[in-house]
Amino acid sequence: MYDLIIIGGGPAGYLAAERAGHAGMAVCLFEKNAIGGVCLNEGCIPSKALLNSAKIYEHARDGRKYGVLAENVLIDQKAVVLRRGKVVRTLVAGVSSTLKRLGVAVVKEAAVVRGRVEGGFAVTAGRQDYEAKRLLIAAGSVAVVPPIPGVRENLGGFVLTNREVLELPEIPKDFVIVGGGVIGLEMAAYYAVAGSRVTVVEMLDHIAGPTDREISTMLRKEYAKRGVDFRLSAKVVAVEPGKVVCEADGKTFEIPADKVLLSIGRRAATEGIGLENIGIATERGVVLTDEQCRTNVENVYAAGDCIGKVMLAHTAYREAEVAVNTMLGKKDRMRYNANPSVIYTHPEVATVGMTEEEAVAAGVDFEVKKLSMRFSGRFIAENEGADGLCKMLIHKKHRNILGVHMIGNASSEVVWGAALMIEQELRVKDAKEIIFP
Ligand code: NAI
Repeated sequence: MYDLIIIGGGPAGYLAAERAGHAGMAVCLFEKNAIGGVCLNEGCIPSKALLNSAKIYEHARDGRKYGVLAENVLIDQKAVVLRRGKVVRTLVAGVSSTLKRLGVAVVKEAAVVRGRVEGGFAVTAGRQDYEAKRLLIAAGSVAVVPPIPGVRENLGGFVLTNREVLELPEIPKDFVIVGGGVIGLEMAAYYAVAGSRVTVVEMLDHIAGPTDREISTMLRKEYAKRGVDFRLSAKVVAVEPGKVVCEADGKTFEIPADKVLLSIGRRAATEGIGLENIGIATERGVVLTDEQCRTNVENVYAAGDCIGKVMLAHTAYREAEVAVNTMLGKKDRMRYNANPSVIYTHPEVATVGMTEEEAVAAGVDFEVKKLSMRFSGRFIAENEGADGLCKMLIHKKHRNILGVHMIGNASSEVVWGAALMIEQELRVKDAKEIIFP
């Protein structure tokens, strides 16, 4: 009998396996697709590989601004996709070898929780039975596919999800992106630079979901400068090869499309893994957990996208760590108040903590301090002609930092510092004593 069975080999699952293996637990991890899950194989990592190619291309094309002349600068999409594959393989191999080194048994099969046995739980995968004292559900999420006419019929061909969009052999001429959230925006950034005519159709009147509104408006304007067309407060009513039919203000219109990306959110992937066989409580597919990532069933834990809190790989890591610490009897708990998020576009957007909109809704007495990125010498040196913003929310009475919201390169590299300030409840005067290079 194993000490721990983990269902799902994405960031939550593999990090939990690493931590538990390191602590000396006998661990068995099940993954039905590829180790590394969506993040490593068809999400975060391959998209960053593509975005870096776009960044290098833009630098080369616009090098003149920096005194660098290059001619015939082109994106070779096939080479970009090949490199993406190499990046993924390197990281997946790294995770696999770490799991091996720590003695984690990896079974590449779909696992189903069968029921309880004396002192634990039974899981079946392939035709074999496995038993463990504890379970960790880390089954991840899948793209939401709405019942819009034409979507299901064309899935994987004319209609793409996060998976196919990262390995297109050719750049589509007219590219329509449904959903102006993180996936939609990162892919709009890549394909607009790579040469597509990109239109983003978003149901809300703003892009980037819960991002600070001032920042998301600035981001939209940056994209518009690169030729991305936004159709806000619009909804897609049908897709058919060659076009997307939308509706806004009661009027119907068509957008030409060679490819359509569906990026309207993700849902927990908890169907068919037998959660009901041991009575694990879920709500619309999401596994319900407490601050220690425990489910309602003793010795059953869950972490990552399938618990539906914040669908981010780095958050999944932390949840996995909290779950394993709890198994080991160490005091730990999940806090989401200092959870950074980044949109890896060019320019980057990085935020952590409360937005102005959230602070107002929560009735917090706060003040806002804003500074243009142009006050940073390095920013001016490296971002010819660009502007950006850093915005900080401060509690009016306690003077601690509640939120930091940035647009401009390289805000993704500094946001963890802001997270540290919020997590440690630093006051402005404490933060001022830190030496920043
Ligand atoms: P999302 O939740 O970020 O955005 C979905 C967008 O689609 C929302 O703005 C929503 O209003 C819109 N929408 C929903 N239904 C629509 C409809 N019928 N027509 C038009 N618009 C519609 O979801 P997304 O972009 O699919 O990303 C999924 C998950 O992956 C997110 O939780 C995200 O945090 C994560 N992710 C994180 C990244 C990062 O941290 N850099 C990168 C990519 C994904």
